Order: sequence, then C-alpha cells, then structure tokens
Amino acid sequence: MPEADESEKEKQFYVDVPAKSEPFFLKGCNSIDWGMKNRLSRIFDPRSGKTVMLAIDHGYFQGPTTGLERVDVTILPLLPYADTLMLTRGILRTIIPPTFDKGIVLRASGGPSILSELSNEQIAIDIDEAIRLNVAAMAVQVFIGGKMETQTIHNMTRLVDMGNRYGIPVLGVTAVGKEMSRDAKYMRLASRIIAELGVTYVKTYYVPEDFDTVVAACPVPIVIAGGKKLPELDALIMAYNAIQDGAAGVDMGRNIFQSESPVAMIKALRKIVHEGEKPKAAYDFFMTEKNEAKQG
Ligand code: 5RP
Repeated sequence: MPEADESEKEKQFYVDVPAKSEPFFLKGCNSIDWGMKNRLSRIFDPRSGKTVMLAIDHGYFQGPTTGLERVDVTILPLLPYADTLMLTRGILRTIIPPTFDKGIVLRASGGPSILSELSNEQIAIDIDEAIRLNVAAMAVQVFIGGKMETQTIHNMTRLVDMGNRYGIPVLGVTAVGKEMSRDAKYMRLASRIIAELGVTYVKTYYVPEDFDTVVAACPVPIVIAGGKKLPELDALIMAYNAIQDGAAGVDMGRNIFQSESPVAMIKALRKIVHEGEKPKAAYDFFMTEKNEAKQG
C-alpha cells in the first residue's frame, strides 16, 4: 500500500499557469506519437534541429567498400562525432559497441548486389529485429522511375506500417538510377512521393539548382547523401548550401570515411550543420584538425 499523502504543506496546483504545449521541433512531425518523437530526438539534435548522420551501410550491396574494409579500425574513432549511425544489422552486432547511445538507423532493405539489378530490393529485416536492436529508425531504398519502382514503394509502405505499429520512424532513401537525371525536378518528384506514402523523413541527393524547392515541396525533414568523394572544401560547400536551402542535416558516408582525415572532416561538418559555420571557416578548421592529428 502506498503511504497516505500526509504532508503538511498546502497543495499547489498552479491554476494560473497554463499547461505547456510546444510544437515538436521537426517539420511535419507534430502528429506522430511520443515514442517516435523520442526516437527522432536520438537522430536529430533538438538544440539545432539538425543531424550529422554517418552512413556506413554501403557494404549491403557493394561489399567491402573503400574506407569500410575494417569498420572496427576506421569507423569506431568517428563515433563520438556522429549524431547517428546508418548501417546494417551485421555490422551493428559484430562491431559497434552496445554502449553507443545515439541513434541507430538500420538498413532495412536489400537483395541485389552490384552484380545485378539494384532496384530489385525487398524488405530485409523483421520488425522484431529492429525492436530487439533498439533502433531509432529503419531505412529503405526507393527507386522512383527505376525498373522495380512499385516493388520498392511497397517495401517502403509495408515498412512504414510496421514502424508505425511500434513507433519506429522510417527513412525513405531516394535511389537515383544511372538513367535518371539528378535535378530538382526529379528530386521533388521522388521526395514528395516518398513523403506522401508515409515515411518520417527523406534522404535525397543535393542538387545545386533549386534545392530549396525540393525541401519546400517535401512535408517532412530532408537529409542529404554525400555521394561520391569530393575534395573536402567542395563537400563542405555542398553541406552548407543544403542547410541554407532548408535541409535538416546530412547523411554522409564516403565524403567522411574516404577523407584524408575522417575525424577532422566529420568535426568540420558538425560546425556547418549545427553551428551554421561558413564553408571556408569550416575548411580552415578541418586543415588545423588534420595537421594537429598528424603531429599528435
Ligand atoms: C546507400 C545509401 C548510403 O547510405 C548513402 O549513399 C550515403 O552514403 P554516401 O554519402 O557515401 O553517398 O543510402 O544506398
């Protein structure tokens, strides 16, 4: 039996203080449930509203990608600087310490390798597995205009239904086939379809022209992929422009782990994403960090 409330102190109900009702900090996410919002807060930093996701899931279709041959050696040193890790369950279980307490975005689709039709993906996990691994979100590839467009859309909608049942957000990744033009028109089409069909947030590629219209037309947050390795300054400029155009962060892989100094690069990206640092200043910071790491 609980003890009776025998405090002599007068009860205080603060009847003149209105109850707080604050909007959630991410675009389009007010109507989702508490568990999902809590998970999103392990991906996006509520202080800046943004994220630096570190994508290392490339092996799910291309095997030991350059820079990811030994995730234990090359990626573990980056963990303190990533807001979130995007990866497969295989790498998560075998290499990532369970003490990592930031968000995990689990690669949830797969099937074909680089040797076959890439759009021929299916859902590659069970929802029980995502729950067991305590993930913050599940990621699914969607090939708008691709050979297996409908199949990949159905992968996504099924995953969204599974995720909604248990409060797990879904990240829809726009996979741009070689035959697609990487322009704002395509990115608007792909991002909007993916958002309309229920994902919690979208990952797409940055395009230099009119990326702000891609963001504006998408009712949920957008993060950008890095794409193939660029010179560091160019990658920082791309991240800066994307943030200025309204992106909620980056989900970068090769431009971090293939950098000449991956730790310096991810730290410089954090400056841009979370602090609004200008590209040149972030690049100077990168160079200083890189040189200091060499000397140390
Ligand atoms: C694979 C992915 C990758 O996570 C994505 O491409 C990010 O990596 P990068 O910045 O190297 O492009 O979604 O399909």
